[in-house]
Amino acid sequence: MNILQQLFSIKNEYINNKKYKYITLFGIKIKSRAEQPPTLLYHLDRYNERNNWPRYELSQEQIQNCKLVANRTKLLELMPKEGVFVEIGTAKGDYAKQILEICKPKKLYLIDFWAMGNEDWEPFVRERFKNEIQSGQVVILKGDSIEMLKKIEDKSLDFAYIDAFHDYEHPKNELNTLKNKMKDSGYICGHDYTRVEIVDCTQYGIIEAVNEFLYKNDQYELCYLTMDHLFMNPSYAIKKI
Ligand SMILES: C[S@@+](CC[C@H](N)C(=O)[O-])C[C@H]1O[C@@H](n2cnc3c(N)ncnc32)[C@H](O)[C@@H]1O
Repeated sequence: MNILQQLFSIKNEYINNKKYKYITLFGIKIKSRAEQPPTLLYHLDRYNERNNWPRYELSQEQIQNCKLVANRTKLLELMPKEGVFVEIGTAKGDYAKQILEICKPKKLYLIDFWAMGNEDWEPFVRERFKNEIQSGQVVILKGDSIEMLKKIEDKSLDFAYIDAFHDYEHPKNELNTLKNKMKDSGYICGHDYTRVEIVDCTQYGIIEAVNEFLYKNDQYELCYLTMDHLFMNPSYAIKKI
């Protein structure tokens, strides 16, 4: 180390996740102002830039009949009763249990491939709903969402809830496949109408997929949005006008 480096040096220090520069000038330590770490929004902006998002922002006309609902449990109270339902992405069956209790569907298809390190949840779900499976009220369709949806009769569904893979392509394909499966009065709903999973900063493509669907299918409108966890996990509902 030369004499200049000994007299004058700059070091970084992190305190509470904030970066400070320490300049040592002739042995005296001078602390800089903290530099904020890049925020979640910063990452999100870069991601949106790369994808050229948002491509489809909804207009006032497209949301004029949309009502806010406190949470996705309340949303079920507004849905048809004793109809034919599907949940795409069932996991342990927590929302499926609410669907059964609140909407009392005559048929509930549960779709999941249980292949993302959650293999144990399949036997759990089969045990949890064993009476309903035995009576024929619940039908488990194990496999990829699109392949399983194709097994459901056209124009038969009163309600669908999309909650499987949260990228852009999967919800987009699920929405398009569901179109032929719904009754004219049916509701297509889904979880996580949001751009980001805040815990691990995963980017979601659901808003893009849903908004694009609404732009390309103008006979549908957004009718409900839920406010779960201060809008961190909103559910949406769309239906034919
Ligand atoms: C967020 S969890 C579902 C939670 C559940 N809807 C609830 O609210 O209780 C997502 C589930 O979707 C399943 N999944 C993800 N991608 C899928 C795909 N392409 N086909 C079928 N299942 C899928 C996963 O195995 C996982 O169990």
